[in-house]
Amino acid sequence: MHDQKPPHQLNEESVLTPTYAAREMTENVPKHRFPEQSTAPATAYNLIHDELILDGNSRQNLATFVTTWMEPEAKTLMSECFDKNMIDKDEYPQTAEIESRCVNMLSNLWHSPDHEMATGTSTVGSSEAAMLGGMAMKWNWRDKMKEAGKATDKPNLVMGANTQICWHKFCKYWDIEAREVTSEGDRFTLNAEEALKLVDENTIGVIVIMGSTMDGSYEPVKEVADALDKYQEETGIDIPVHVDGASGAFIAPFLQPELEWDFRVPRVVSINASGHKYGLVYPGVGWILWRDKAHLPEDLVFHVTYLGGDMIDFSINFSRPGNQVVAQYYNFLRLGMDGYRRIQQACQDVALYLSGEIARMGPFELITDGSDIPVFCWKMTEAASNTTNYTLFDMADKLRERGWLVPAYPMPKNRQDLIVQRVVVKEGFSRDMADMLLRDMRSALEWFKSQPGFISRKEGGNFHH
Ligand SMILES: Cc1ncc(COP(=O)(O)O)c(C=O)c1O
Repeated sequence: MHDQKPPHQLNEESVLTPTYAAREMTENVPKHRFPEQSTAPATAYNLIHDELILDGNSRQNLATFVTTWMEPEAKTLMSECFDKNMIDKDEYPQTAEIESRCVNMLSNLWHSPDHEMATGTSTVGSSEAAMLGGMAMKWNWRDKMKEAGKATDKPNLVMGANTQICWHKFCKYWDIEAREVTSEGDRFTLNAEEALKLVDENTIGVIVIMGSTMDGSYEPVKEVADALDKYQEETGIDIPVHVDGASGAFIAPFLQPELEWDFRVPRVVSINASGHKYGLVYPGVGWILWRDKAHLPEDLVFHVTYLGGDMIDFSINFSRPGNQVVAQYYNFLRLGMDGYRRIQQACQDVALYLSGEIARMGPFELITDGSDIPVFCWKMTEAASNTTNYTLFDMADKLRERGWLVPAYPMPKNRQDLIVQRVVVKEGFSRDMADMLLRDMRSALEWFKSQPGFISRKEGGNFHH
């Protein structure tokens, strides 16, 4: 007999040990291999909690488009569904039903002619949604070409060079030529004239962005669609439009309801959006909807039954948490049209106020002001770039000292010489917080002025869109 206790068993000593005097608190934390022995839950919690202090404060993160504040009731609901797998439609039929309701509601919001029988699905985010939308366009194009007895080995996708990386990934993963409309002078997005120069019979579709990641501006969906209508009349080639509404699909219906960017435009075949951006849910949930059943090739779709109904399964991933979809429905129910309108308007009001004040500071010139989506960016004025001792990268560093994350980065291909700084205004960023940021920006300007020997940073940090 030996009386040694198993190492994991808590003895009185381990319970009474002061929190920060425990063995794990005074030794290296395992980083490369599993520790041999277990750690008490409270100790493990404190260790990891304390490491995370080094992360930025999400509420001061004006770089991200992703939701950083939700109501306590939404958080409770989410925590109640951590254990539910979205893919288990049969086992969790009510979660599946809630997903289906969200698809119908979005289909109605985006004016699908078929919204009672909406075709779409939730995803991890807009990136997965983009993959699915892109695949549907590729499949449809290939079927059309095969039917016409033509080659199918050189598909291309037309888009602005300002597109988010997900579209570049889509082209690479699915072996598609990315044809980019590059920036020119003060134009940083795609327009009809430039898009038309790149299309041909191998074009699977044109991506038009509602809310460019680079500067928050809307690309002209209707104008591009009209130009493609004309192109079809002249050539017989029918090219679909996919709208990347990652941010704007949850802004335009509330702030610019008259703007025709969605399924009201007949050439728009599919739309993606991030539920975790202006859909106001914590990450990660996205949505992809097709105009109608006919635009989603049957060949790509798996069917599952739930509550005796039929639901499509078209996804890259299999398992995925159900809680974000539940939280999305919570927002739809809780906020309704009026609530979403008021929140998005509040964000826009703050964005317009902030951009106006930044423009008044002197050294900065706005590129956008937040009047499309509540996102705007600015550059240094020509005079300031020639006379000041700091760059926007320095400004970003200086603001970081106060916890603000306001990224500076180069504009897209062909205008990479132009450095801008951007703010994304989201729910939870009040006018008072905007005033605190402004105060810190003004003191940063004063500080640079007081440091004639300051050596500025000409090159960017590590910011990725
Ligand atoms: C226009 C646009 N498309 C797609 C994405 C990717 O979205 P997600 O992060 O939801 O995958 C973003 C993200 O910022 C975006 O701004």
